[in-house]
Amino acid sequence: MNRSLPVIGVVGTGYVGLCTAVGFASRGFKVITSTSDKLKADLINSGEPPFYEPGLKELLSEAVALGNLRCTLDREETVLESDITFITVGTPSLQDGSIDLSLVEASARDIGKALARKNKYHIVVVKSTVIPGTTVNLVKPTIEELSGKRAGIDFGLAMNPEFLREGSALYDTFNPDRVVIGEFDKRSGDVLEELYNSFYSGKVPIIRTNPFTAELIKYANNAFLALKISFINTIANICERVPDADVRDVAKAIGMDRRISPLFLNAGVGFGGSCFPKDLKALIAYSKKEGYEPTLLEEALRVNERQAIWIVDTAERKLGNLSGKVVAVLGLAFKPGTDDMREAPSIRIVKELLRRGAYVKAYDPAAIGNARKIFGDKVKLCESIVDCIRGSDCCMIVTEWDEFKDLAPSFFKENMRRPFIIDGRRIYDPKLFRSELEFEAVGLGGRST
Ligand code: UDX
Repeated sequence: MNRSLPVIGVVGTGYVGLCTAVGFASRGFKVITSTSDKLKADLINSGEPPFYEPGLKELLSEAVALGNLRCTLDREETVLESDITFITVGTPSLQDGSIDLSLVEASARDIGKALARKNKYHIVVVKSTVIPGTTVNLVKPTIEELSGKRAGIDFGLAMNPEFLREGSALYDTFNPDRVVIGEFDKRSGDVLEELYNSFYSGKVPIIRTNPFTAELIKYANNAFLALKISFINTIANICERVPDADVRDVAKAIGMDRRISPLFLNAGVGFGGSCFPKDLKALIAYSKKEGYEPTLLEEALRVNERQAIWIVDTAERKLGNLSGKVVAVLGLAFKPGTDDMREAPSIRIVKELLRRGAYVKAYDPAAIGNARKIFGDKVKLCESIVDCIRGSDCCMIVTEWDEFKDLAPSFFKENMRRPFIIDGRRIYDPKLFRSELEFEAVGLGGRST
């Protein structure tokens, strides 16, 4: 290995891959990435990220201009020209919730073929979220078979999970709470520890463990955060049955207990996105396959599914039969700051509204394009907030975009047929809104007087 900066290879150019690549390139590392999508490769090579992520375009275009980052369509080239190759390809859910490892396996095959042609020591690092055993029982034998080399002797192998969030992916890349290195062989662990210590100037704690544990750490981390959200949503549902209770105060107070921490205690219409639902399902499926029924995790998923329906039930309780009622949905993305609607609670909400016969209008500052693909013409997708709420019988806040937060009760009163707001993300002041119009909010108890 080059004692100066190792060359970094990254297989896969999704959130994890591109942010990892851009992160290293921005610190002066030479990085070569690969994708099978020519359009994506062309975009990256012209300095354009194939998806939106704050700050990514600036860092990517700079890295490309400086010659520190390029993208190839040839995976083997990524390995031949680098010292350390990260596998960051997607691991989607199969129909039964279990994980689809076909892209990881295909990457391992190409890496194996490339290593057969390479004499220099090389380290392969699995960064994709994979179930325990994948690195040692799938990636290792695949590479060994195709390269004719032995892991831990001829090449190094490690698992190094990634914890970045969409919308703050670069911030998370540069400021992780910790780095987890699951090493198959000590040499790989030493090299990666040195790499990350120099990248983070020794300021980020590094946990060294084995690949199986590292793989499980990623799932445990996401499962715990998902549990926290389902927990606070459960408390929210109880709060609604307690006069004057407010889940926000509950969350604030319990969050001050350092054993709990204040983060991920926002009650709402539930979690979505490309990770929590998928990872929870994969962990459940894995655990069951290994003979253990993880009922706690299954319940977290069920709570989450029901939580989206809470907002529809709340509308029906007030409006009666929803058939023919005009419902305005503000926010479709799974969280603010993204156009991503994968597993978004909005999808379950809109489908349930349609099933109960409501006429649905919706607005989102970023996700309208994706919404059109999902809902077609079943939903009236609006160009503005005012178009969306005009003439409606109920307005649901489903994603907490900043541009919804400053809307005054008078704005709703002037434009809605029946000024009735259901705040599914707790962005409005209940006192103010309740004094002006019909107002319900997640985790807000009825008035005692
Ligand atoms: C998540 C993890 O945070 C990240 O560590 C992992 O690598 C990938 O999955 P992401 O899916 O980008 O990241 O979004 P995140 O900000 O974690 O939010 C996930 C969902 O939980 C969103 O739908 C959000 O609205 C919801 N959420 C989050 C809540 O409902 N309440 C909260 O308090 C926090």
